[in-house]
Amino acid sequence: MYNEKVREAFAHPKNVGFIEDADGVGKVGNATCGDIMEISLKIKNDVIVDAKFRTFGCAAAIATSSTATEMVKGMTIDEALKLTNSQVVKELEGLPPQKIHCSVLAEEAIKEAINDYRNKKK
Ligand code: FES
Repeated sequence: MYNEKVREAFAHPKNVGFIEDADGVGKVGNATCGDIMEISLKIKNDVIVDAKFRTFGCAAAIATSSTATEMVKGMTIDEALKLTNSQVVKELEGLPPQKIHCSVLAEEAIKEAINDYRNKKK
């Protein structure tokens, strides 16, 4: 059901865990399946220098979180806010149609974490 790239990202996910001194944390739930994802970000001068995730989710959620956290490292927060689940799915060379909703978790959790960072700065 999953392509090789997705299977690899699921079998050896990158950035699993939680950044204890994170500057922003986002936790979101997937209304379709009830799975949960949390992303923590370390941000310096509005650039994401580290990103980690923890998820109670399926293989597609884990693969997309791994890929999304890799993609946002080095991005400014404005660039990261523009990252869409479609871009993450493209990076993974596709997901089965019934698993596209899983990729939305990472996009939403990153946005939440950036909002958390911005609120803390105020
Ligand atoms: Fe819930 Fe994939 S089935 S995130």
